[in-house]
Amino acid sequence: MSRNVCAVLFVVILLAAASAGAAPVKRLEIFSWWTAGGEAEGLNALFEVYKRRHPDVEIVNAAVAGGAGAAAKAVLKTRMQGGNPPDSFQVHGGAELVDTWVKTGFMEPITAVARGEGWLAVIPKDLVEMVSHRGEMYAVPVNVHRGNVLWYHKRLFDQNNLRPPATWDEFFRVADALKAKGVTPLSLGDKLKWEAAHLFEDVLLATLGPTDYNGLWTGRTPWTGDGVRRALETFARILQYVNSDHAALVWDQAVQLLVDGKAAMNVMGDWAAGYFTAKGWKPNVDYGFAPAPGTRGTFVIVTDTFGLPKKAPHREQALNWLRVVGSKEGQEAFNPKKGSICARTDCDRSKFDAYLQSSMADFARDRLVPSEVHGSAAPETFATEFNDIVNVFVTRRDVPAAQRALQQACVRAKMCR
Ligand code: GAL
Repeated sequence: MSRNVCAVLFVVILLAAASAGAAPVKRLEIFSWWTAGGEAEGLNALFEVYKRRHPDVEIVNAAVAGGAGAAAKAVLKTRMQGGNPPDSFQVHGGAELVDTWVKTGFMEPITAVARGEGWLAVIPKDLVEMVSHRGEMYAVPVNVHRGNVLWYHKRLFDQNNLRPPATWDEFFRVADALKAKGVTPLSLGDKLKWEAAHLFEDVLLATLGPTDYNGLWTGRTPWTGDGVRRALETFARILQYVNSDHAALVWDQAVQLLVDGKAAMNVMGDWAAGYFTAKGWKPNVDYGFAPAPGTRGTFVIVTDTFGLPKKAPHREQALNWLRVVGSKEGQEAFNPKKGSICARTDCDRSKFDAYLQSSMADFARDRLVPSEVHGSAAPETFATEFNDIVNVFVTRRDVPAAQRALQQACVRAKMCR
């Protein structure tokens, strides 16, 4: 072998070794709490769309289990404050995004991406406002969940000639009839606290109506008033109809009690529909749905969004993730599995089941109010205190003490004086 050939071979071998060993792996790390039935399937569907568009990128799923972010939010906080953000993370539109992350300077605006992708023409103004601050957009909404839904076991209702209750008074009649047959009327799993708070939020809405419910988050409706007192009394009565092991279960285990025919009703956001779908349950066949008692005409919005943290380690991949999250293709793949409707208005309705189609109709027609338990209506400090107070109430049932504690929490959060 000539010296020249040897030299060329040497260089080729060196180059091959360098490209094999040091080739930069493109990564994308996505943080969420989507691990339950329906949630995990939806997230995977989004990942599939991303992988089709960017097959060279390795996706790291950094999900932390625990409904409503009960565990994930603390992990996220540690990472963000420690300068170790994921490339993008799930966050509710409204206070959770804006107060916790935007005003504190942790996020980059994504308005230019939104313009480039034409999102402003297809995402309703209400939602755009929930992810905006001082004229800049900081996240893209992937969905709209409804927080105020009553789910019921179709066969148990049909067999007992029952109709879904439209008010809490009707609920007590239906619940008594079910109890008389030995069926647990309402399933609850409040191990992580937020689940009981979620039910109570819907009772507050039913008791106060949308205007006074909204006033709770601005100090206009007093926590010490008559409306909140009545809501707490109704809530205490409802708790007499739930499964005795509620404190040991989480939301999806409570929904599973319906699937197992062990309880007849559940009040939960429509990620429960995603859970039913993941279990092969069909709307109007296996389960029925109605607005949570007393809340017809009002739609409690829970919107999941993704934004761009400053110092995202893989910024380019993160921007491409946001493009997928905001796309028609991404939202049509994600939402039918997740049990939510698109944040975009141009999704193909035929891809959605009967429940989700009815949710689309209600979203277009109903009065929209934000959820406090799911991050939109009030600062996170209040949300945490609210969960604690409601859970103390679940065990003690002390109405005046709960009212006092709620009012004090409202003052501490600077929502009330
Ligand atoms: C909500 C979230 C939903 C769903 C639910 C239960 O806060 O917006 O996407 O995941 O928690 O985990």
